[in-house]
Amino acid sequence: MTPDEFRAYGHRLIDLIADYRATLCDRPVMAPTEPGAIRALLPAEPPRAGEPFGQIVDDLERLVMPGLSHWQHPRFFGYFPANALLAGVLGDLASTGLGVLGLSWQSSPALTELEEVVTDWMRQMLGLSAAWSGVIQDTASISTLVALICARERVTGYALARGGLQAERSPLAVYVSDQSHSSVDKAALLAGFGRDTVRLVPCDAAYAMRPDALEAMIVADRAEGLLPTAIVATTGTTATTAIDPVAGIADVAARHGVWLHVDAAMAGSAMILPDLRHLWDGVEGADSVIINAHKWLGAPFDCSLYYVRDPGHLMRVMSTNPSFLQSGVDDRVRNLRDWGIPLGRRFRALKLWFLIREQGIDGLAARLRRDLDNAAWLASEVAATPGWRVVAPVPLQTVCVRHEPAGLDADALDVHTRAWADRVNRSGAAYLTPATIDGRWMVRVSIGAESTERADVAAVWASMQAAAEKPAV
Ligand SMILES: Cc1ncc(COP(=O)(O)O)c(C=O)c1O
Repeated sequence: MTPDEFRAYGHRLIDLIADYRATLCDRPVMAPTEPGAIRALLPAEPPRAGEPFGQIVDDLERLVMPGLSHWQHPRFFGYFPANALLAGVLGDLASTGLGVLGLSWQSSPALTELEEVVTDWMRQMLGLSAAWSGVIQDTASISTLVALICARERVTGYALARGGLQAERSPLAVYVSDQSHSSVDKAALLAGFGRDTVRLVPCDAAYAMRPDALEAMIVADRAEGLLPTAIVATTGTTATTAIDPVAGIADVAARHGVWLHVDAAMAGSAMILPDLRHLWDGVEGADSVIINAHKWLGAPFDCSLYYVRDPGHLMRVMSTNPSFLQSGVDDRVRNLRDWGIPLGRRFRALKLWFLIREQGIDGLAARLRRDLDNAAWLASEVAATPGWRVVAPVPLQTVCVRHEPAGLDADALDVHTRAWADRVNRSGAAYLTPATIDGRWMVRVSIGAESTERADVAAVWASMQAAAEKPAV
């Protein structure tokens, strides 16, 4: 493809995306696709000869797009908001189009320095002190893995430079709650902790980790010969957006010399609202924090911000220095390959830079406030409606509900809950995610797609009532 052909097809593709966004609300939110249906439409073998590009775009529209569930739809209330604001989309296009890689500062100086600037902008926007340094990772899963590896290396005095974990005398323990995201569990296992030493700290009635229980476990584990290594606290858990008490947990971490990692992947965006920062009071006592700009904030996936207080330690753990990557300025620059796992680095900072500049802090904050208001409104509607219950506190934008008709035992209620959520999803009117809490099913209404207004929230509430109270026979 020549640059001129790229210009022509690029215009067509931009038109396609713009039309898609403009007409999204007319599409069923959840793809009405059966497993294997899209694969069956596509050739099993790759083409021997190149094909006209226009035909490929036609196929994208005709074959692929009908098989999408629409995360940017105003009635998408599933999982968590994964906004891809169009300014950020253009940032991603620019990043890919420029086609540069940050293997070292010298391999693309502006890539590194823009990343330093935007992570520091975000630090200021989140109200974190200047003691934090940030870097962009792909996902929270990887950021948490990096955090737990760093914790492991701190407590062992850099065991990786000797016999590694295999040569350690005491088993290393990590403390999470049963509300922590599955990526935390996975990161702990991959960092070498092992199922037996991933310790589940009990939660209180609001699904938040209990610092007193945490401390008791750490003391007991130490007495048993374990080496308490890391605690993962969550600001905004996945099921209910519960808020772990970071200040109390940080005190425990400090008393026992344990690494504290704060997973604010989803809810961290809300910290751009100064009046909500009390939700992570004590965060300055943590060692590492993650915030996914690719969720509620609006940077297209993937863009996970990882902040640390001791970048020297991070670099010591992650650093590699083969001769072909060395340069004469290494003592004066950041080489971001030493700030995480992958060597290669995309120009992710561009999409965040575009997003923050186009929206401004005020634009981003206004949208988040709208979503918080909408969640409070829905929670009050549900609470005021006989037969319905809000099953968890609503500190942010997720409302967890159950329809509880009289006469159903717990198992029948679970069946009913999943069935009405499924009816809403299959109708195409909205997308909801059922999940379990206390071992029982409920339905999460996660508000915060860019285009979701009060009318959309009122509409999903009407769909929920229709599906639960007048089930199809
Ligand atoms: C609290 C929390 N942590 C971690 C994750 C994982 O995020 P990622 O997909 O960036 O790994 C999520 C979301 O899916 C989340 O809500």
